[in-house]
Amino acid sequence: MSRIVYVNGAYLPEEEAKVSVFDRGFLFADGVYEVTSVLNGKLVDFDGHAKRLERSLTELEMPSPVTMDELLQIHRDLIDRNGLVEGGVYLQITRGAAPRDFAYPADPKPTLVLFTLEINISGSPKAETGLKVVSIPDERWGRRDIKTVQLLYPSMGKMAAKAQGADDAWMVEDGAVTEGTSNNAYIVTKDGKIVTRQLSHAILHGITRAAVLRMAEEAQMIVEERPFTIEEAQNAAEAFITSATTFVTPVVEIDGVTLGDGKPGRIAKRLREIYMDEARAKAV
Ligand code: PDD
Repeated sequence: MSRIVYVNGAYLPEEEAKVSVFDRGFLFADGVYEVTSVLNGKLVDFDGHAKRLERSLTELEMPSPVTMDELLQIHRDLIDRNGLVEGGVYLQITRGAAPRDFAYPADPKPTLVLFTLEINISGSPKAETGLKVVSIPDERWGRRDIKTVQLLYPSMGKMAAKAQGADDAWMVEDGAVTEGTSNNAYIVTKDGKIVTRQLSHAILHGITRAAVLRMAEEAQMIVEERPFTIEEAQNAAEAFITSATTFVTPVVEIDGVTLGDGKPGRIAKRLREIYMDEARAKAV
């Protein structure tokens, strides 16, 4: 079934939704994006995504074509028009079409595109079985805190994982894990501490990460924000990832080494339940 897609003020059947070949998103990956999850037709943590979007735009000196209130309305309209119950809304803003020049145009006309994604988040089979991950060097640029559409290296990482019979890759820089190709990475130590890399330019400041760490602390769990190695992860009690499209999903194998008994860990399962309950309760 054809989706209704939003492009620069118009709601169009996806076949008719088009942007210019001179769009800087296409020519320079000069664009930023967000994926906000949808449960029961409602948006999860819209405010968090809107704030991160504003930050990405500011860092790139890119104007926004709409206010954040207008953006919320467009998200809701798209959910309604597509009858979306569960999945996500993908949003992208680029610096728009301009004569090809490395320098930013003086008077940019940003492009705004949104479309819906149907994803079975709550009943994902991987939440039951857990994921297998492999490690790869982190060869992305140095500003991973800005959510740009430069996703070729993460795509290569997913392909490398697939070629090895795994589900995803964790990226390693200076001996420590930065994050997954499209998610934040965590381990649970044998004494029950949740460890995830601290925020910096090296990783995306995950919206799910912020919520899960807050919920873990509210549930009296101990959180340590610091780097960890693949070896430490292989010897951990549990591991998991978080993102808007996977929520909390356990990891059961790292570079061919099975974690614990090879089943999803207790803490990852508990955090997934807590996150899902709050996401359902607070979605707008
Ligand atoms: N990816 N790290 C990276 C590199 C990501 O691309 C993502 C999200 C995350 C998790 O962030 P959040 O919890 O805000 O979704 C971490 C999205 C889902 C994607 O590219 O599809």
